[in-house]
Amino acid sequence: MNLKELVGIEVAKYVKDGMIVGLGTGSTAYFMVKELGRRVKEEGLQITGVVTSSATEKQATELGIPLKAIDDVEYVDLTIDGADEISNDFQGIKGGGAALLFEKVVATYSKDCIWIVDESKMVDKLGNFPLPVEVVPYGSHNLFRLFEEKGYHPKWRKKADGELLTTDGGHYIIDLALEVIEDPRALATELDNYVGVVEHGLFIDMISRVIVGTSEGPKEIE
Ligand code: 5RP
Repeated sequence: MNLKELVGIEVAKYVKDGMIVGLGTGSTAYFMVKELGRRVKEEGLQITGVVTSSATEKQATELGIPLKAIDDVEYVDLTIDGADEISNDFQGIKGGGAALLFEKVVATYSKDCIWIVDESKMVDKLGNFPLPVEVVPYGSHNLFRLFEEKGYHPKWRKKADGELLTTDGGHYIIDLALEVIEDPRALATELDNYVGVVEHGLFIDMISRVIVGTSEGPKEIE
């Protein structure tokens, strides 16, 4: 069993009957959703899922997990999601799977969030993973040039056919190759202030627990 599968199955134990569960996106979250689907089918687990992407919606629907839209619930009890990088102080980068906007919306309305990662994602400082910025298409090439001028080394997120990728929200993604983010909070505020930026992949103070898949087994860090 690989480390992503290990943590995906482990974290599903935190889900109890009656919970509204935020279902994350990505190859680690995939195993968590799969395990929840198994528990719904084989153990009669009663949950309502709130998805963070069309990909997770498809998977959860196929597995028979009952779903509600984020706007049809007042809050989510627990959201479980993957991440691309997590620093020692629990700040993170997400959006490698292009679902950062809906992931951040669902996390915002969640009482509790757990991230599940393999140990390669734990870092001292964020930034080695390119930071995704989701932008409105209108004016996005000017925003791209602005990021170039600032030395942020922007790159368009593209599909396999070379076309620009469009997110579930109908936006583009510009990935910033920053190498090291010395002050994630300040950068988050800066990005929030650019006209045309819908959201970015810096998740500041949004999680309380991380389950890390290690070669010795899953480890919970608080
Ligand atoms: C999607 C995400 C993913 O959670 C993140 O990219 C981690 O993905 P994976 O588990 O496949 O490594 O933020 O937008």
